[in-house]
Amino acid sequence: MKNVAVIGAGTMGNGIAHTFAQSGFNVQLIDVSEHALKKGIQTIATNLDRMVAKEKITEADKTTTLNHIESFTDLKKGVAKADLIVEAATENLELKLKIFKEIDQFSLESAILATNTSSISITQIAAVTAKPERVIGMHFMNPVPIMKLVEIIRGYNTSDDVTKTIMALSKTLGKEPVEVNDYPGFVANRILMPMLNESIETLYNGVAGVHEIDTVMKLGMAHPMGPLQLADFIGLDVCLSILNVMYDGFKNPKYAPCPLLVNMVRAGKLGVKSGEGFYDYSENKKAEKISKQFLK
Ligand SMILES: NC(=O)c1ccc[n+]([C@@H]2O[C@H](COP(=O)([O-])OP(=O)(O)OC[C@H]3O[C@@H](n4cnc5c(N)ncnc54)[C@H](O)[C@@H]3O)[C@@H](O)[C@H]2O)c1
Repeated sequence: MKNVAVIGAGTMGNGIAHTFAQSGFNVQLIDVSEHALKKGIQTIATNLDRMVAKEKITEADKTTTLNHIESFTDLKKGVAKADLIVEAATENLELKLKIFKEIDQFSLESAILATNTSSISITQIAAVTAKPERVIGMHFMNPVPIMKLVEIIRGYNTSDDVTKTIMALSKTLGKEPVEVNDYPGFVANRILMPMLNESIETLYNGVAGVHEIDTVMKLGMAHPMGPLQLADFIGLDVCLSILNVMYDGFKNPKYAPCPLLVNMVRAGKLGVKSGEGFYDYSENKKAEKISKQFLK
C-alpha cells in the first residue's frame, strides 16, 4: 500500500492524514471545503512543529511528512489512485452513504474502503457499495497522532483478508489495533458513553456538582480527565447522537440520553467547540489549558 486517501480534513481527518504521512504513505487529503483543507494542513504543520520542539522528530522529518500530503476538493480525483480510503467526514448517515456510493464508483477495484465513524453501522455503509467485503471500520481516537488505539470494526460482510491487512497496516502506523464486531457503539463508545451519560445523570439528580463529579473520577479512578470535561471535549452533540444510535439499536432504556444532555444540545451548549458545555471555555486561555492537558 502506498496511496491513502483521507476524506474530511477536520479534527480526525487531519490527524489521520498526519499519521499516515509521517509513516511514509502518500496521502490525498480531500474536503469539500477549501478552508477546511487549509486549516487541516496548518494544524498538521503546527502539530509537527510541536514534535520538532520536543525533539521527537527533526525539521527534515517535518518537511518530508508535509511533502507527502496533497490536497483535493474533488473527491473523484482524490480517490482515483488510492489503495486505501479512510473516510472521516461529518458524522451523518446520509452523507456517509452518499460518499461511499461515490468512492465505490471512482476508486480502484482493489481499494479498501474504511470509515472512521464513531457510531454508524459499518454493515449499513458497506451495503451501498458493490464490494461490501472490502469495507471496514477504522476508528481512530482523538488526537490521532498521539492515541495508540485503533478500533477495527468488521462489518457483517468484511472479509478476513481485508481485516488482516488493516490490522497489520495499523501496526505499521505504530498503533495498537483491536478487532471488534459491528454492533451499536462498537466497544469503545458502548462502554464510554453510558459512563458519561451516568455522570450527567448524577449532576441532573443533584448528587454533586461538575467539579465534584470530575474530581471523584480523576482522583478516585485515576482517569486523566473527568467525564464531564471529556464529554465537553468530545462534543455534547456527538455524545447525544452516539447514545441515540445505541438506544435505537438495542431498544434498551439503559442507553437513553439524560434529559439534561438533550436540553444542553438544544440550547447550543456543545462543549469546547461552542465555547460552553459543563465548563466555560469563553476565555481562550481556559480552553487551551484543557486541550494541552489532554495532549500531554
Ligand atoms: N472528534 C472526535 O473525537 C472523533 C473521534 C473518533 C471518531 N470520530 C468520527 O470521525 C468523523 C469526523 O469527525 P470530526 O470530529 O473530524 O468532524 P469535523 O467536523 O471536525 O470534520 C469533518 C470534515 O468533513 C468535511 N466534509 C463534510 N462533507 C464532506 C464531503 N462530502 N466530502 C469531503 N469532506 C466533507 C467537513 O468540511 C469537515 O472539514 C466522524 O465520523 C466522527 O464520528 C470523531
